[in-house]
Amino acid sequence: MVRLGIIGLGAAAQAFITPLQRHEDVKVAAVCDPRPEARESFSKTLDAPSFADVEALVGSGLCDAVYIGTPTDLHFEHASAALDAGLHVLLEKPMCIHAEDGFALADEAETRGLALVVGHSHSHDLPIRAMREVIRSGRLGRVRMVNILGYTDWVYRPRRPEELRSDLGGGVTYRQGAHQFDILCSLCGDQVVSVIGHTFDFDPERSTVGAHSATLTFANGAIGTAIYNGYGHFPSSELTGEIGEWGYVTPYRPRANTSATSSEDEMARKRARAKTAIGSDAPHQPHFGMVLVSCEKGDIRQSLDGLLIYTAEGCEEHPLDNSRTPRDLVLDEFVAAVGGTPVLHDGRWGATVVSICDAVHESARTGKPVRLAQT
Ligand SMILES: NC(=O)c1ccc[n+]([C@@H]2O[C@H](COP(=O)([O-])OP(=O)(O)OC[C@H]3O[C@@H](n4cnc5c(N)ncnc54)[C@H](O)[C@@H]3O)[C@@H](O)[C@H]2O)c1
Repeated sequence: MVRLGIIGLGAAAQAFITPLQRHEDVKVAAVCDPRPEARESFSKTLDAPSFADVEALVGSGLCDAVYIGTPTDLHFEHASAALDAGLHVLLEKPMCIHAEDGFALADEAETRGLALVVGHSHSHDLPIRAMREVIRSGRLGRVRMVNILGYTDWVYRPRRPEELRSDLGGGVTYRQGAHQFDILCSLCGDQVVSVIGHTFDFDPERSTVGAHSATLTFANGAIGTAIYNGYGHFPSSELTGEIGEWGYVTPYRPRANTSATSSEDEMARKRARAKTAIGSDAPHQPHFGMVLVSCEKGDIRQSLDGLLIYTAEGCEEHPLDNSRTPRDLVLDEFVAAVGGTPVLHDGRWGATVVSICDAVHESARTGKPVRLAQT
Protein backbone atom coordinates (compact mmCIF):
# COMPACT_ATOMS: atom_id res chain seq x y z
CA MET A 1 0.00 0.00 0.00
CA VAL A 2 1.46 3.36 -1.08
CA ARG A 3 0.67 6.14 1.42
CA LEU A 4 0.13 9.12 -0.87
CA GLY A 5 0.10 12.85 -0.11
CA ILE A 6 -1.68 15.20 -2.53
CA ILE A 7 -0.02 18.59 -3.05
CA GLY A 8 -2.18 21.17 -4.87
CA LEU A 9 -5.92 20.62 -4.53
CA GLY A 10 -7.21 22.20 -7.75
CA ALA A 11 -8.71 20.97 -11.01
CA ALA A 12 -6.07 18.34 -11.79
CA ALA A 13 -6.22 16.84 -8.28
CA GLN A 14 -10.02 16.83 -8.37
CA ALA A 15 -9.89 14.42 -11.32
CA PHE A 16 -7.85 11.93 -9.25
CA ILE A 17 -10.29 11.73 -6.32
CA THR A 18 -12.44 8.79 -7.48
CA PRO A 19 -9.52 6.79 -8.98
CA LEU A 20 -7.68 7.25 -5.65
CA GLN A 21 -10.69 6.23 -3.59
CA ARG A 22 -11.06 2.95 -5.49
CA HIS A 23 -7.40 2.01 -6.02
CA GLU A 24 -6.42 -1.08 -4.06
CA ASP A 25 -2.74 -0.22 -3.67
CA VAL A 26 -2.92 3.49 -2.80
CA LYS A 27 -4.23 5.22 0.33
CA VAL A 28 -4.42 9.01 0.55
CA ALA A 29 -2.51 9.84 3.74
CA ALA A 30 -2.46 13.67 3.67
CA VAL A 31 -3.44 16.64 1.50
CA CYS A 32 -1.89 20.10 1.11
CA ASP A 33 -2.95 23.49 -0.28
CA PRO A 34 -2.66 27.07 0.99
CA ARG A 35 -6.43 27.55 0.40
CA PRO A 36 -8.40 26.57 3.53
CA GLU A 37 -11.59 25.76 1.61
CA ALA A 38 -9.72 23.31 -0.66
CA ARG A 39 -8.04 21.68 2.37
CA GLU A 40 -11.36 21.29 4.16
CA SER A 41 -13.13 19.78 1.16
CA PHE A 42 -10.38 17.27 0.17
CA SER A 43 -9.65 16.37 3.79
CA LYS A 44 -13.31 15.54 4.39
CA THR A 45 -13.82 13.63 1.11
CA LEU A 46 -10.64 11.59 1.45
CA ASP A 47 -10.62 11.30 5.24
CA ALA A 48 -7.01 12.53 5.44
CA PRO A 49 -5.22 15.21 7.50
CA SER A 50 -4.36 18.47 5.76
CA PHE A 51 -1.37 20.81 5.66
CA ALA A 52 -1.09 24.40 4.48
CA ASP A 53 2.46 24.11 3.24
CA VAL A 54 4.50 21.57 1.32
CA GLU A 55 7.44 21.30 3.76
CA ALA A 56 5.04 20.32 6.54
CA LEU A 57 3.45 17.54 4.46
CA VAL A 58 6.69 16.07 3.09
CA GLY A 59 8.26 16.17 6.58
CA SER A 60 5.22 14.70 8.34
CA GLY A 61 6.27 11.05 8.08
CA LEU A 62 2.72 10.22 6.93
CA CYS A 63 3.55 9.63 3.26
CA ASP A 64 5.73 7.36 1.09
CA ALA A 65 4.90 9.30 -2.06
CA VAL A 66 3.20 12.46 -3.31
CA TYR A 67 1.05 13.46 -6.28
CA ILE A 68 1.84 17.07 -7.29
CA GLY A 69 -0.95 19.02 -9.01
CA THR A 70 0.23 22.56 -8.25
CA PRO A 71 0.65 25.24 -10.98
CA THR A 72 3.39 24.21 -13.43
CA ASP A 73 5.81 26.95 -12.37
CA LEU A 74 5.88 25.40 -8.85
CA HIS A 75 6.47 21.79 -9.95
CA PHE A 76 10.28 21.93 -9.73
CA GLU A 77 10.26 23.39 -6.21
CA HIS A 78 7.63 20.94 -4.95
CA ALA A 79 9.08 17.84 -6.62
CA SER A 80 12.57 18.75 -5.32
CA ALA A 81 11.20 19.08 -1.77
CA ALA A 82 9.51 15.68 -2.00
CA LEU A 83 12.56 13.90 -3.46
CA ASP A 84 14.79 15.54 -0.82
CA ALA A 85 12.48 14.09 1.83
CA GLY A 86 12.86 10.60 0.29
CA LEU A 87 9.36 10.46 -1.24
CA HIS A 88 8.37 8.99 -4.61
CA VAL A 89 6.73 11.54 -6.93
CA LEU A 90 3.83 11.50 -9.37
CA LEU A 91 4.03 14.87 -11.13
CA GLU A 92 1.42 16.53 -13.34
CA LYS A 93 2.22 17.50 -16.92
CA PRO A 94 3.88 19.57 -18.21
CA MET A 95 6.58 18.40 -15.83
CA CYS A 96 8.36 21.78 -15.47
CA ILE A 97 8.71 25.11 -17.21
CA HIS A 98 12.37 24.43 -18.13
CA ALA A 99 13.44 21.10 -19.64
CA GLU A 100 16.77 21.28 -17.77
CA ASP A 101 14.86 21.35 -14.46
CA GLY A 102 13.02 18.22 -15.56
CA PHE A 103 16.26 16.41 -16.38
CA ALA A 104 17.70 17.54 -13.02
CA LEU A 105 14.67 16.04 -11.23
CA ALA A 106 15.08 12.81 -13.22
CA ASP A 107 18.76 12.62 -12.18
CA GLU A 108 17.84 13.31 -8.55
CA ALA A 109 15.18 10.57 -8.50
CA GLU A 110 17.56 8.07 -10.11
CA THR A 111 20.36 8.92 -7.67
CA ARG A 112 18.04 8.45 -4.71
CA GLY A 113 16.39 5.30 -6.12
CA LEU A 114 12.95 6.96 -6.05
CA ALA A 115 10.13 6.72 -8.59
CA LEU A 116 9.37 9.86 -10.59
CA VAL A 117 6.41 9.47 -12.95
CA VAL A 118 4.80 12.20 -15.05
CA GLY A 119 1.03 11.99 -15.49
CA HIS A 120 -1.72 12.08 -16.28
CA SER A 121 -0.82 12.59 -19.94
CA HIS A 122 -2.84 11.19 -22.82
CA SER A 123 -0.48 8.40 -23.82
CA HIS A 124 -1.66 6.73 -20.59
CA ASP A 125 -5.08 6.39 -22.28
CA LEU A 126 -5.98 2.84 -23.29
CA PRO A 127 -6.56 3.57 -27.02
CA ILE A 128 -3.08 5.11 -27.34
CA ARG A 129 -1.54 2.17 -25.46
CA ALA A 130 -3.39 -0.24 -27.75
CA MET A 131 -2.12 1.61 -30.85
CA ARG A 132 1.41 1.38 -29.45
CA GLU A 133 1.00 -2.37 -28.97
CA VAL A 134 -0.20 -2.86 -32.56
CA ILE A 135 2.79 -0.84 -33.84
CA ARG A 136 5.25 -2.72 -31.65
CA SER A 137 3.84 -6.08 -32.73
CA GLY A 138 5.28 -5.32 -36.20
CA ARG A 139 2.25 -6.71 -38.06
CA LEU A 140 1.78 -3.41 -39.93
CA GLY A 141 5.48 -2.89 -40.71
CA ARG A 142 7.28 0.24 -39.56
CA VAL A 143 5.39 3.29 -38.28
CA ARG A 144 6.01 6.15 -40.73
CA MET A 145 3.59 8.96 -39.83
CA VAL A 146 1.41 9.91 -36.89
CA ASN A 147 -0.88 12.93 -37.33
CA ILE A 148 -2.82 14.53 -34.48
CA LEU A 149 -5.51 17.16 -34.95
CA GLY A 150 -7.04 18.92 -31.94
CA TYR A 151 -9.56 21.78 -32.19
CA THR A 152 -11.15 22.87 -28.89
CA ASP A 153 -12.14 25.96 -26.88
CA TRP A 154 -9.02 25.65 -24.66
CA VAL A 155 -8.25 29.40 -24.74
CA TYR A 156 -11.72 30.37 -23.52
CA ARG A 157 -12.13 27.88 -20.68
CA PRO A 158 -11.90 29.62 -17.28
CA ARG A 159 -8.25 29.88 -16.23
CA ARG A 160 -5.71 31.23 -13.76
CA PRO A 161 -3.80 34.11 -15.48
CA GLU A 162 -0.56 32.04 -15.43
CA GLU A 163 -2.20 29.40 -17.62
CA LEU A 164 -2.06 31.79 -20.55
CA ARG A 165 1.64 32.66 -20.03
CA SER A 166 4.12 30.49 -21.93
CA ASP A 167 7.00 31.60 -19.67
CA LEU A 168 5.10 29.94 -16.79
CA GLY A 169 4.24 26.75 -18.68
CA GLY A 170 0.93 28.04 -20.09
CA GLY A 171 -0.54 28.42 -23.58
CA VAL A 172 -1.54 25.51 -25.79
CA THR A 173 1.97 24.28 -26.64
CA TYR A 174 2.95 23.57 -23.02
CA ARG A 175 -0.50 22.60 -21.81
CA GLN A 176 -1.97 20.65 -24.76
CA GLY A 177 1.10 20.11 -26.96
CA ALA A 178 2.62 18.32 -23.96
CA HIS A 179 -0.14 15.70 -24.42
CA GLN A 180 0.27 15.58 -28.21
CA PHE A 181 4.08 15.22 -28.12
CA ASP A 182 3.73 12.57 -25.40
CA ILE A 183 1.41 10.61 -27.74
CA LEU A 184 3.72 11.09 -30.74
CA CYS A 185 6.77 9.89 -28.77
CA SER A 186 4.91 6.86 -27.44
CA LEU A 187 3.68 5.86 -30.93
CA CYS A 188 6.71 6.73 -33.06
CA GLY A 189 8.87 4.85 -30.56
CA ASP A 190 12.21 6.58 -30.92
CA GLN A 191 14.03 9.80 -30.05
CA VAL A 192 13.01 13.10 -31.63
CA VAL A 193 15.90 14.54 -33.66
CA SER A 194 14.38 17.78 -34.95
CA VAL A 195 11.35 19.99 -34.54
CA ILE A 196 9.71 22.61 -36.76
CA GLY A 197 7.06 24.72 -35.05
CA HIS A 198 4.68 27.59 -35.75
CA THR A 199 2.62 29.27 -33.05
CA PHE A 200 -0.32 31.68 -33.23
CA ASP A 201 -2.01 34.27 -31.03
CA PHE A 202 -5.32 35.17 -32.69
CA ASP A 203 -7.02 37.18 -29.92
CA PRO A 204 -5.38 40.30 -28.43
CA GLU A 205 -8.17 40.41 -25.80
CA ARG A 206 -6.96 37.07 -24.45
CA SER A 207 -3.35 36.98 -25.58
CA THR A 208 -1.59 33.62 -25.41
CA VAL A 209 -0.18 30.93 -27.68
CA GLY A 210 -3.62 29.64 -28.62
CA ALA A 211 -2.73 27.51 -31.66
CA HIS A 212 0.28 25.69 -33.02
CA SER A 213 1.51 23.42 -35.74
CA ALA A 214 4.50 21.18 -35.03
CA THR A 215 6.42 18.62 -37.07
CA LEU A 216 8.67 16.18 -35.24
CA THR A 217 11.27 14.03 -37.02
CA PHE A 218 12.23 10.84 -35.17
CA ALA A 219 15.57 9.04 -35.39
CA ASN A 220 13.87 6.05 -37.09
CA GLY A 221 12.61 8.35 -39.87
CA ALA A 222 9.01 8.51 -38.61
CA ILE A 223 7.29 11.91 -38.76
CA GLY A 224 4.81 13.17 -36.18
CA THR A 225 2.61 16.21 -36.73
CA ALA A 226 0.60 17.95 -34.04
CA ILE A 227 -1.95 20.61 -34.91
CA TYR A 228 -3.80 22.36 -32.08
CA ASN A 229 -6.28 25.23 -32.31
CA GLY A 230 -7.78 26.32 -28.98
CA TYR A 231 -9.97 29.17 -30.30
CA GLY A 232 -13.31 27.40 -29.96
CA HIS A 233 -14.71 27.58 -33.47
CA PHE A 234 -14.63 24.15 -35.18
CA PRO A 235 -14.51 21.30 -32.57
CA SER A 236 -12.44 18.27 -33.64
CA SER A 237 -14.81 16.15 -31.51
CA GLU A 238 -17.00 16.30 -34.65
CA LEU A 239 -14.42 13.91 -36.15
CA THR A 240 -14.57 11.51 -33.20
CA GLY A 241 -18.29 10.85 -32.80
CA GLU A 242 -18.65 14.02 -30.64
CA ILE A 243 -16.58 12.28 -27.95
CA GLY A 244 -14.05 14.47 -26.18
CA GLU A 245 -10.81 13.94 -24.32
CA TRP A 246 -12.48 12.42 -21.24
CA GLY A 247 -14.82 10.01 -23.03
CA TYR A 248 -18.02 12.08 -22.73
CA VAL A 249 -20.25 13.14 -25.61
CA THR A 250 -19.64 16.87 -26.09
CA PRO A 251 -21.93 18.25 -28.82
CA TYR A 252 -20.91 21.48 -30.54
CA ARG A 253 -21.85 24.72 -28.80
CA PRO A 254 -20.55 28.27 -29.36
CA ARG A 255 -17.64 29.15 -27.10
CA ALA A 256 -18.10 31.02 -23.80
CA ASN A 257 -17.29 34.74 -23.70
CA THR A 258 -14.57 34.50 -21.03
CA SER A 259 -12.81 37.77 -21.78
CA ALA A 260 -15.69 39.87 -20.41
CA THR A 261 -15.36 38.46 -16.86
CA SER A 262 -13.28 39.55 -13.84
CA SER A 263 -10.38 37.32 -12.73
CA GLU A 264 -12.22 36.43 -9.47
CA ASP A 265 -15.28 35.38 -11.43
CA GLU A 266 -13.08 33.39 -13.80
CA MET A 267 -11.41 31.54 -10.89
CA ALA A 268 -14.81 30.77 -9.37
CA ARG A 269 -15.94 29.36 -12.72
CA LYS A 270 -12.71 27.34 -13.07
CA ARG A 271 -13.29 25.75 -9.64
CA ALA A 272 -16.94 25.00 -10.43
CA ARG A 273 -15.99 23.45 -13.79
CA ALA A 274 -13.26 21.31 -12.15
CA LYS A 275 -15.87 19.38 -10.19
CA THR A 276 -17.41 17.84 -13.32
CA ALA A 277 -15.09 18.38 -16.31
CA ILE A 278 -13.02 15.20 -15.83
CA GLY A 279 -15.36 12.53 -14.47
CA SER A 280 -14.69 8.91 -13.61
CA ASP A 281 -17.70 7.28 -15.21
CA ALA A 282 -17.23 8.14 -18.89
CA PRO A 283 -19.33 6.00 -21.25
CA HIS A 284 -16.65 5.99 -23.95
CA GLN A 285 -12.90 5.80 -24.43
CA PRO A 286 -11.08 9.17 -24.30
CA HIS A 287 -10.43 10.86 -27.66
CA PHE A 288 -7.71 13.52 -27.55
CA GLY A 289 -8.63 14.86 -30.99
CA MET A 290 -8.10 12.78 -34.12
CA VAL A 291 -5.00 10.56 -33.89
CA LEU A 292 -4.17 8.85 -37.19
CA VAL A 293 -1.29 6.39 -37.43
CA SER A 294 0.21 5.31 -40.76
CA CYS A 295 2.43 2.24 -40.90
CA GLU A 296 3.87 0.66 -44.03
CA LYS A 297 1.08 -1.93 -44.24
CA GLY A 298 -1.85 -0.18 -42.65
CA ASP A 299 -3.42 2.72 -40.80
CA ILE A 300 -4.88 2.90 -37.28
CA ARG A 301 -7.38 5.26 -35.69
CA GLN A 302 -9.85 5.09 -32.82
CA SER A 303 -13.43 3.91 -33.30
CA LEU A 304 -15.89 5.20 -30.68
CA ASP A 305 -14.84 2.56 -28.17
CA GLY A 306 -11.90 0.75 -29.67
CA LEU A 307 -9.45 0.76 -32.55
CA LEU A 308 -9.97 0.54 -36.30
CA ILE A 309 -7.14 -1.07 -38.25
CA TYR A 310 -7.17 -0.54 -42.03
CA THR A 311 -5.08 -2.92 -44.17
CA ALA A 312 -5.17 -4.32 -47.71
CA GLU A 313 -7.55 -7.00 -46.35
CA GLY A 314 -10.10 -4.42 -45.13
CA CYS A 315 -10.98 -2.65 -41.87
CA GLU A 316 -11.10 -4.51 -38.53
CA GLU A 317 -12.44 -3.14 -35.27
CA HIS A 318 -10.88 -4.05 -31.92
CA PRO A 319 -13.09 -3.11 -28.96
CA LEU A 320 -11.33 -1.94 -25.79
CA ASP A 321 -12.24 -2.42 -22.14
CA ASN A 322 -13.70 0.78 -20.67
CA SER A 323 -13.68 -0.23 -17.00
CA ARG A 324 -10.52 1.68 -16.06
CA THR A 325 -10.16 5.43 -16.64
CA PRO A 326 -6.90 7.10 -17.72
CA ARG A 327 -6.18 8.07 -14.10
CA ASP A 328 -6.73 4.51 -12.84
CA LEU A 329 -4.06 3.53 -15.38
CA VAL A 330 -1.73 6.33 -14.22
CA LEU A 331 -2.00 5.07 -10.64
CA ASP A 332 -1.27 1.50 -11.81
CA GLU A 333 1.91 2.73 -13.53
CA PHE A 334 2.93 4.79 -10.51
CA VAL A 335 2.47 1.86 -8.11
CA ALA A 336 4.58 -0.30 -10.45
CA ALA A 337 7.30 2.38 -10.53
CA VAL A 338 7.28 2.66 -6.72
CA GLY A 339 7.77 -1.12 -6.69
CA GLY A 340 10.91 -0.69 -8.82
CA THR A 341 9.50 -1.58 -12.27
CA PRO A 342 10.86 0.63 -15.09
CA VAL A 343 7.96 2.58 -16.66
CA LEU A 344 7.43 4.62 -19.82
CA HIS A 345 6.45 7.98 -18.30
CA ASP A 346 9.49 8.49 -16.09
CA GLY A 347 11.24 11.78 -15.34
CA ARG A 348 13.42 11.64 -18.44
CA TRP A 349 10.31 11.07 -20.58
CA GLY A 350 8.55 14.10 -19.04
CA ALA A 351 11.62 16.32 -19.47
CA THR A 352 11.96 15.27 -23.12
CA VAL A 353 8.35 16.30 -23.74
CA VAL A 354 9.09 19.74 -22.23
CA SER A 355 12.18 20.04 -24.45
CA ILE A 356 9.91 19.44 -27.49
CA CYS A 357 7.54 22.21 -26.29
CA ASP A 358 10.57 24.52 -25.93
CA ALA A 359 11.75 23.57 -29.43
CA VAL A 360 8.34 24.34 -30.98
CA HIS A 361 8.48 27.84 -29.50
CA GLU A 362 12.12 28.38 -30.48
CA SER A 363 11.45 27.24 -34.06
CA ALA A 364 8.40 29.52 -34.23
CA ARG A 365 10.55 32.44 -33.04
CA THR A 366 13.55 31.85 -35.31
CA GLY A 367 11.81 30.39 -38.35
CA LYS A 368 14.31 27.50 -38.32
CA PRO A 369 14.18 23.81 -37.41
CA VAL A 370 15.57 22.99 -33.95
CA ARG A 371 17.78 19.94 -33.49
CA LEU A 372 17.28 18.17 -30.16
CA ALA A 373 20.18 16.83 -28.11
CA GLN A 374 19.94 13.06 -27.72
CA THR A 375 19.32 11.97 -24.12
N1 LIG B 1 -3.35 15.87 -16.95
C1 LIG B 1 -4.31 16.69 -17.25
O1 LIG B 1 -5.14 16.43 -18.10
C2 LIG B 1 -4.37 18.03 -16.52
C3 LIG B 1 -5.58 18.73 -16.41
C4 LIG B 1 -5.57 19.95 -15.74
C5 LIG B 1 -4.39 20.46 -15.22
N2 LIG B 1 -3.23 19.75 -15.37
C6 LIG B 1 -1.97 20.25 -14.80
O2 LIG B 1 -2.12 20.33 -13.39
C7 LIG B 1 -1.41 21.46 -12.86
C8 LIG B 1 -2.39 22.33 -12.08
O3 LIG B 1 -3.39 22.83 -12.95
P1 LIG B 1 -4.88 23.07 -12.41
O4 LIG B 1 -5.69 23.43 -13.58
O5 LIG B 1 -5.29 21.95 -11.53
O6 LIG B 1 -4.64 24.38 -11.52
P2 LIG B 1 -5.53 24.86 -10.31
O7 LIG B 1 -5.29 26.32 -10.16
O8 LIG B 1 -6.95 24.40 -10.46
O9 LIG B 1 -4.92 24.06 -9.06
C9 LIG B 1 -3.67 24.34 -8.50
C10 LIG B 1 -3.79 24.17 -7.01
O10 LIG B 1 -2.48 24.32 -6.44
C11 LIG B 1 -2.63 25.08 -5.25
N3 LIG B 1 -1.36 25.67 -4.86
C12 LIG B 1 -0.81 26.85 -5.28
N4 LIG B 1 0.36 27.07 -4.63
C13 LIG B 1 0.55 26.01 -3.80
C14 LIG B 1 1.57 25.67 -2.87
N5 LIG B 1 2.63 26.46 -2.68
N6 LIG B 1 1.45 24.52 -2.19
C15 LIG B 1 0.39 23.68 -2.38
N7 LIG B 1 -0.62 23.98 -3.24
C16 LIG B 1 -0.53 25.11 -3.95
C17 LIG B 1 -3.70 26.10 -5.59
O11 LIG B 1 -4.27 26.70 -4.43
C18 LIG B 1 -4.70 25.23 -6.35
O12 LIG B 1 -5.61 24.61 -5.49
C19 LIG B 1 -0.79 22.16 -14.06
O13 LIG B 1 0.54 21.73 -14.20
C20 LIG B 1 -1.61 21.65 -15.25
O14 LIG B 1 -0.87 21.61 -16.46
C21 LIG B 1 -3.21 18.54 -15.98
